[in-house]
Amino acid sequence: MACEAITNAIRHSDSGDLEDPGTATVVVSGAGRTVRVEVLDASSPDTAPRLADEDLEAVSGRGLHLLDILSGGRWGSCDGDHGRTVWFEAGA
Ligand SMILES: Nc1ncnc2c1ncn2[C@@H]1O[C@H](COP(=O)(O)OP(=O)(O)O)[C@@H](O)[C@H]1O
Ligand SMILES: [Mg+2]
Repeated sequence: MACEAITNAIRHSDSGDLEDPGTATVVVSGAGRTVRVEVLDASSPDTAPRLADEDLEAVSGRGLHLLDILSGGRWGSCDGDHGRTVWFEAGA
């Protein structure tokens, strides 16, 4: 799940800009049997994290669906002064 969120940060935000690459920051925290992962990226002017339309023939657009299922819907994104954070929780 973390790999998917980090890959998205690189593929879909300005963090992965080939001309002017930025950073992606990962924060992992835990409480009891719950782990929370936050991935901060450089944001992007034209896209935002979203569940792609379901299309059985599509070769992409499944990552956030998997993350949504595996987290039980406990994920989201928020925009801040320093970029965008995509977060999810897993566990109890
Ligand atoms: N960190 C992100 N920043 C901007 N857009 C994002 C980010 N993560 C996901 N998206 C958008 O949400 C869509 C769905 O993401 P995903 O389900 O992971 O599919 P995929 O990565 O295969 O395109 C992406 O195509 C992209 O438009
Ligand atoms: Mg993806």
